[in-house]
Amino acid sequence: MDEAIGHYPPDQKRSAALPLLHLWQEHFDFINDEAVTWIAAKLGLQPINILELVTFYPMLRERRAGKTHIRVCRTLSCAMAGSYQVMENLCAATGIQRKVDPAGAGHTPISMSPGGNYSIEFVECLASCGTAPVCMINDDLHENVQPDNTMSILSEPPAKSAVYPPHPLEQRIIFKNIGRENWKTDIKTYLDDGGYEDLRTAVKMSRADIVNEVKTSGLRGRGGAGFPCGVKWSFIKPDEKKPVYLICNADESEPGTFKDRYIIHEDPHQLLEGIAISCFALNARTAYIYIRGEFPKGAKILERAIEEAREHKFLGKDILGSGFDVDVHIHRGAGAYICGEETGLIESLEGKRAYPRIKPPYFPAVLGLYMCPTIVNNVETLCAVKHIVAMGGAKYAQLGRPNNTGTRIVCVSGDVERPGYFEIEVGKVTMGQLIYDIAGGVKWGRRLKAVIPGGSSAKVLRADERFKIKQKQPDGSTIDVEMSIDELPMDFDSLAAAGSMAGSGGVIVLDDSRDMVWVLNNINEFYAHESCGQCTPCREGSLWMKKITERMLDGGGVTEDPHTLKTIGDNIAGRTICAFGEACAWPTQSFVEKFPDEFAAYARKSIPPPLPPEQTPQELIEHETIPTSPLAHDPGWEKAGADAVI
Ligand SMILES: Cc1cc2nc3c(=O)[nH]c(=O)nc-3n(C[C@H](O)[C@H](O)[C@H](O)COP(=O)(O)O)c2cc1C
Ligand code: SF4
Ligand code: FES
Repeated sequence: MDEAIGHYPPDQKRSAALPLLHLWQEHFDFINDEAVTWIAAKLGLQPINILELVTFYPMLRERRAGKTHIRVCRTLSCAMAGSYQVMENLCAATGIQRKVDPAGAGHTPISMSPGGNYSIEFVECLASCGTAPVCMINDDLHENVQPDNTMSILSEPPAKSAVYPPHPLEQRIIFKNIGRENWKTDIKTYLDDGGYEDLRTAVKMSRADIVNEVKTSGLRGRGGAGFPCGVKWSFIKPDEKKPVYLICNADESEPGTFKDRYIIHEDPHQLLEGIAISCFALNARTAYIYIRGEFPKGAKILERAIEEAREHKFLGKDILGSGFDVDVHIHRGAGAYICGEETGLIESLEGKRAYPRIKPPYFPAVLGLYMCPTIVNNVETLCAVKHIVAMGGAKYAQLGRPNNTGTRIVCVSGDVERPGYFEIEVGKVTMGQLIYDIAGGVKWGRRLKAVIPGGSSAKVLRADERFKIKQKQPDGSTIDVEMSIDELPMDFDSLAAAGSMAGSGGVIVLDDSRDMVWVLNNINEFYAHESCGQCTPCREGSLWMKKITERMLDGGGVTEDPHTLKTIGDNIAGRTICAFGEACAWPTQSFVEKFPDEFAAYARKSIPPPLPPEQTPQELIEHETIPTSPLAHDPGWEKAGADAVI
């Protein structure tokens, strides 16, 4: 415990709260009152400061779990691949009577088998959507679970998933070693491949030169927002007096995204080299890798890699004789998606609930960790920095397209023959090439219905849409071009021009058998579960949207529902502290707008619900109408229907 506390500045011991809670839970299986008071006393805090973490972070539990604890992913790609069936079969096999939440089929408290040998729960995206459905059995991830053969995962170790050789349309730089024969994650293998040579080059350069190379490269952040990395870095003053921190965002929780996990698991030293170079460039002497709690193996792999790098003087005091000291520490999250939002992440790292901070300041580079200048970058972004130093910013910028430079890893999941992660030159591959050539086409010979191109927060694109896009010509002029979804270049600007976003690079493919109300309901369940709850529009609205789509699926849809859904979405986006508001509103807004017939088909009943949508009136599902008199009660936000039956 003292070692964990030592990872943080002496006056910031609160940061060790989550690590201590993890240690306690690993040892005693759950967090009880004694844990709360003991950890609080150890860190000089009040018990409430610890209890608020236990109730906020889903991975911390106040009751014992079974000897074997099972987590089944219920998010979109896994649900499409049969994870609800997996849950049913696992419960049957282990004798678990799962408590069912009357308000919905999603999250319920952990359910136990009679003898306490097994416990089970649904969890949100485990960042392995390409091998859906997936489960965690204790700390092991089981991929491609067969819904009709679930018993085997309880008795057998996880099978390694297939790794494909690079497709000719790929351009592997970051993923060049992944899947290579005899490739291992130890430092010797990495050094034999020329590892840490770019750090050697970097420490001989001036800090300003490295920042300029990154600027010249045009690298845009790969975590979701696509903000230019060099510009962000230049917010740090060269003569900064306060300590500067670098945080590597390894929270990877956006449904459909599963690239950072593979970098960490397969090539941890590449990430550490990127971090060391970035720390040197930013004069940041401490870096934290904030890794999501559901990556326990990844955390161990990184810890071992950090030890190895220290032994070789790539980290620690006076790295490579440069006089520069840098320490890298792992900080584990505990199951909350909002920890991916950079200011929520910082609050979490400070030992608090992951409540995103009110902006301005817009960038943690101004006020970040411990109110010091802080750069937060995604795992893939930091890996790209290493390659920019290797090839030079100008050469890197020749990859991809103007303003969309370099390579990026796109993760394809859902209804394709060959789901997986593919590294492409940004914008040099079209959506059609990605789906049909690289990912093997739509599964079972079906037709494409829709694509969510940048993680589940991105607006859905219809397969039959025509996109009007302004295209820049070599002479600087622009022309209007109309293109199909297949012709859309996979880059930030084209996907934004098509009304969606490249986001975190998670492409979820939906075939023509998919029910769009069902798909949206699955997404809504995710956001309703993950809202941190600070802002009323987000906290209430995300739940309302989920309740409405759930009621529609249950047969209680009313004609008002599509309009109500849209209105709720419109009243969340742009009215919240963080971009989660947009992330949860965009799916609803776009699905309702782009698939009106499907939503109308579920919304047939003639009266609006007599109760607000967070309650699901069973009568409405069972009967066509409910005879209630006007003003029998005030439904608050909702108006009476056209026939004023309410
Ligand atoms: C709700 C929400 C969730 C996010 N989740 C992640 C995440 O899991 N990983 C990540 O790198 N960035 C995530 N981001 C983006 C981060 O806030 C931040 O922009 C990013 O880590 C910056 O790194 P980059 O510039 O290298 O992309 C999220 C943003 C929001 C609004
Ligand atoms: S928008 Fe949602 S997730 Fe973000 S701060 Fe507000 S309530 Fe929390
Ligand atoms: S791992 Fe299940 S949806 Fe991502």
